[in-house]
Amino acid sequence: MSTFQDRVAVVTGGASGIGLAVCEELARRGARVVLADIDVAKAEAAAASIRAAGGHARAAAVDVTDAAQVEDLVARTYADDGALDYLFNNAGIALFGEVRDMTLEQWNRILAVNLHGVVHGVVAAYPRMIERGTGHIVNTASRAGLVPTPGATTYAATKHAVVGLSTSLRGEAAALGVKVSVVCPGIIDTPLKHSLTWLHLDKERMLADPLVRLTAPDVCARVIVQGVERNRPVIVVTATAKGSWSLYRMFPQFVAGWLGRVVMGQMRRRYATRPPAV
Ligand code: NAI
Repeated sequence: MSTFQDRVAVVTGGASGIGLAVCEELARRGARVVLADIDVAKAEAAAASIRAAGGHARAAAVDVTDAAQVEDLVARTYADDGALDYLFNNAGIALFGEVRDMTLEQWNRILAVNLHGVVHGVVAAYPRMIERGTGHIVNTASRAGLVPTPGATTYAATKHAVVGLSTSLRGEAAALGVKVSVVCPGIIDTPLKHSLTWLHLDKERMLADPLVRLTAPDVCARVIVQGVERNRPVIVVTATAKGSWSLYRMFPQFVAGWLGRVVMGQMRRRYATRPPAV
């Protein structure tokens, strides 16, 4: 029998991209999934299509930046489904561009969704999981949470924080019966590439670059679900992400310097939509 059979899983950002693919994969393996998203119409449609394929799914409205809404989502899951076995804190947004162009409002928005959204999930679910002596929290970070990412510094800041939160909490949680994993994908082909904010960058030119290789969400979801099943601490998805993380751990100074000089330089030359200031 599948590890996930009849288990209850809440996935924030479950209406689209990686979150949706994770919901589909979990449902195929017998889990009862809650697609929690700020876009509830999209979540309803996605849940209906999982049910049509024979899975067990429902949608829930949540804005992860609002702690009370996340608390309510978790409390309702316990009330309606009797348990919460897996919480995937996956909802996220992205912002590409240089820090010199960012407003404080943009900083606060990305921190609110990508970091505080995860914190709200942990605060709501962790004590309840401890009480039951079981549960698994799975936070979505990114390769940008493992390796410096000039040109997406705000995003990298939130994702490094999510990695630190997850790997540290894992050490506290294990003896209390709760598992914690963090997911670090490379570039995945999801609607995020259209919805993310590109500051002074030519999005079409960047996405058309043959070096930008996009991995399909269902491939990503299979790796994530397998990693969760094996209780991996850090689940890195895509060969490029694994390779760059390994290189960075072996040669941190060299890789950080190369990313700053070469990659950032190329980004400015190839994709900037205004003359570079430096
Ligand atoms: P996506 O844009 O396809 O899906 C994100 C979902 O989150 C959407 O359904 C959106 O409505 C929802 N969402 C956004 N703000 C929300 C909020 N405040 N409350 C509740 N839901 C909200 O994006 P994708 O690509 O599936 O991203 C999922 C996660 O994976 C994010 O945390 C992202 O940072 C991360 N990631 C994505 C990568 C990629 O290349 N697509 C690479 C590495 C990490």
